[in-house]
Amino acid sequence: MREVELITKVQVFENEAELPGQEGVLMREAHEALAKSYAPYSKFNVGAALLLANGELISGANQENAAYPMCLCAERVALGAATSVYPGVAVTAIAITIKSSHQVVNRPAAPCGACRQVICETSNRQGQPIVVLIKGETGPIYRFNDAVDLLPLSFDSSYL
Ligand code: THU
Repeated sequence: MREVELITKVQVFENEAELPGQEGVLMREAHEALAKSYAPYSKFNVGAALLLANGELISGANQENAAYPMCLCAERVALGAATSVYPGVAVTAIAITIKSSHQVVNRPAAPCGACRQVICETSNRQGQPIVVLIKGETGPIYRFNDAVDLLPLSFDSSYL
């Protein structure tokens, strides 16, 4: 038996102003997107914003349904919108933030496994990495250079 380490590297920023390039603007856009959330059941608003290679920003928010399994996550709403409006244009970064009615979340909010899988598929499809920025309602911003860092040992088309 031998053990191998699957190491994830994350950069920690105290606020939007510290982020490089357009990424501070992107996180603010994700925050704005919280207003588009429809979350009457969980009362947990999620906002996501994408930076595209053509410089455009596309945002999305979670959309819930009385039939709970049909709820749509913010990340996948934004990614679906981006490929529909700008097919073939690479996504270079995604920013995600949240607002809960139940508690003040003061640590970065983790995207669900399904969204990580879809972000990684987008990255593989376009052949370039996607920076992932995550933030709670307050507190630091975590920055991952590549979405795959959030999903070690991910399943992808190379297995098929
Ligand atoms: N949610 C997202 O929008 N993204 C995630 O990555 C995790 C969960 C939404 C789905 C649902 O509307 C609410 O958060 C509570 O699970």
